[in-house]
Amino acid sequence: MSNNSERIIIFDTTLRDGEQCPGATLNIEEKLAIAKQLSRLGVDIIEAGFAFASPGDFEAVNQIARTVGTENGPVICSLARARRDDIKAAAEAIAPAAKGRIHTFIATSDIHLQYKLRKTRQEVLATTEEMVAYAKTFTDDIEFSPEDAGRSDPEFLYQVLEKAIAAGATTVNIPDTVGYTTPSEFGAIIKGIKDNVPNIDQAIISVHGHNDLGLAVANFLEAVKNGARQLECTINGIGERAGNAALEELVMALYVRKQYFNPFLGCAADSEKPLTNIDTKQIYKTSRLVSNLTGLLVQPNKAIVGTNAFAHESGIHQDGVLKNKRTYEIMDAQSIGLTDNLIVLGKHSGRNAFRTRLQELGYEITETELNKAFLRFKDVADKKKEISDWDLEAIVNDEIQQAPDLFRLELVQVSSGSNAKPTATVTLYTPDGEELTDAAIGTGPVDAVYKAINRVVNVPNKLIEFSVQSVTAGIDAIGEVTIRLKHEDKIFSGRSANTDIIVASAQAYVNALNRLYAYLLKEQKQEQVTVSS
Ligand code: KIV
Ligand code: ZN
Repeated sequence: MSNNSERIIIFDTTLRDGEQCPGATLNIEEKLAIAKQLSRLGVDIIEAGFAFASPGDFEAVNQIARTVGTENGPVICSLARARRDDIKAAAEAIAPAAKGRIHTFIATSDIHLQYKLRKTRQEVLATTEEMVAYAKTFTDDIEFSPEDAGRSDPEFLYQVLEKAIAAGATTVNIPDTVGYTTPSEFGAIIKGIKDNVPNIDQAIISVHGHNDLGLAVANFLEAVKNGARQLECTINGIGERAGNAALEELVMALYVRKQYFNPFLGCAADSEKPLTNIDTKQIYKTSRLVSNLTGLLVQPNKAIVGTNAFAHESGIHQDGVLKNKRTYEIMDAQSIGLTDNLIVLGKHSGRNAFRTRLQELGYEITETELNKAFLRFKDVADKKKEISDWDLEAIVNDEIQQAPDLFRLELVQVSSGSNAKPTATVTLYTPDGEELTDAAIGTGPVDAVYKAINRVVNVPNKLIEFSVQSVTAGIDAIGEVTIRLKHEDKIFSGRSANTDIIVASAQAYVNALNRLYAYLLKEQKQEQVTVSS
C-alpha cells in the first residue's frame, strides 16, 4: 500500500480509544467478542488496546493477537507511549499475531510540550527517532503519531514526521486530538505533509480525530481527498469526550458517494471497485454488539445505525418512498445488514433450528454459550409466540455479555399500582453462595427493586442512566434495559433483555453491580500486594 493507493485502510480503535470513554470498560471476553466481529466486518487493523496500561489490557491485546490475529485476519496493534517499557509491553502483547503493529506516539504541539511533557522540540525530535528505532527492533510495522498534530506548528510537524519515517515508521498518523480543526484546515495539514516531508512516500498517511465540534468525519473525508489512506475510527463513534470519527459514517460515505471520491483515489469516476475492505452488511450487527457490550446507547437519530436512520415518519416522505424508495433514501437499509425483521422461530423450534439461524446470522458461539442461550430462548418462546432475528440477537448478546458472576439474582417480585406503595422483594446469592432476601419500598417498581438489591449488595453507588428499549414492536416484545451507575469517579454499565422489564431492570442492575464489585475486589487485592511488598 502507498499514499497513491486506490483503497482506504480502515484502522479500528474501538477497543483502545473507544474503550477510553467513561463507563465503556469491557472485560476480556467482551473485547474478544468485539474483535472477532470487527474481523468479520473486514477492518484492516484492530488497535486492541494499550498493553502497558494494566495487566488486564496486556492480556486482552495478547489474547486478541492469539485468536483474531491469524494469517488472513486483521493486523493487531497495541498503542505505546514513546517510552521503552511501553513499547516492550506492546511488542510482547502483539507477538502471537501473524501480523502485528506497534503504534507509538509523542505530543508535538507547543502547549503539550510546555505543560505536559516539559520537553523542548529538540528533545521530542530525539525521542521520536530513538523510540521508533527501538520499536522497529520488534516488528517492521510501526505507526507513529505526533499527538495534537492539529494544533502543532506545521514546520515542526514536518521535521518530526521526517525523523519518524527515517527511523522506520511505515505509517504516520495525524491526530486532531482535541477535535479543533475544520475540514479545510485538516485537509491543508495533510496536503502540507505530502508536499513538505521529503520521505513521505515511504509511509502511509493516516488520520485520527475527535468529534468535539462534530467535524471528525468531515475532516477525515477532506483528508482522504488530500492524500490520507488510513482512517482511524470507532464503531458508533465512541471514544474520549465527544468520541472519535465513526467507522460506519466514513465507510458509508465512501460507499454511497463512491463516484465523488473515486477520482481523489486515482480511480475512474464510474469505477465499481470498493474503496474499503469493509463488508457493509456487518455494520448494523457490529454497532449493536458494541452498544450492548459497552452499555453506550446509540442515539436514535445517529447517522447510519440510529433506529430512526431508515424510518420515514412524515406523510409526504412515506408517500414518496412507497412510490420510489430513492425519493428519500440515499442508501438501502439492507446495505448495512438491516434485514426485514423476519419471524423465524417459535416455541416448537428445536436446538438445531436455533443453532442454524444463529449461524446464518453470523454468530460463532461456543457449545456452552449455545446451551445457555437455548435455555433462554425456550424461556422467551414460552412467553412470546414469535421470535424474530432481533429477539435472537438480544438473547445471544445477553449471553455473550460477561458481567462477572458474583451476585446472582434468584427472585424478583414487585407489587405496584395506583394508590399503592411500590414494594419489591428480591433474593440474591452472594459470591460466597449465601442466599439473602430483602425488601424495600420505592417511588416506583424499579426504584423499589434497586433499593431492595442495594440492601443486599451494600456497595455505595449512584444510578446515572436508565433506559428501556423494546427490541421489536408488539405488546409481548422483549425489553432491553441498559443502565450506568457511578461509584466515586468510575462508571459501570449493565444490560439485560427480558419480556418482563422489571426482571430485565433487576438483572441489568445486578450485572452493573457485579462489575463494580469485581473492580473493588481487584483494587483491594492490589492494595494488599502494595502493603505487604
Ligand atoms: O487522540 C489522540 O491523539 C490519540 C493518539 C494516541 C493517537 O488517541
Ligand atoms: Zn484519540
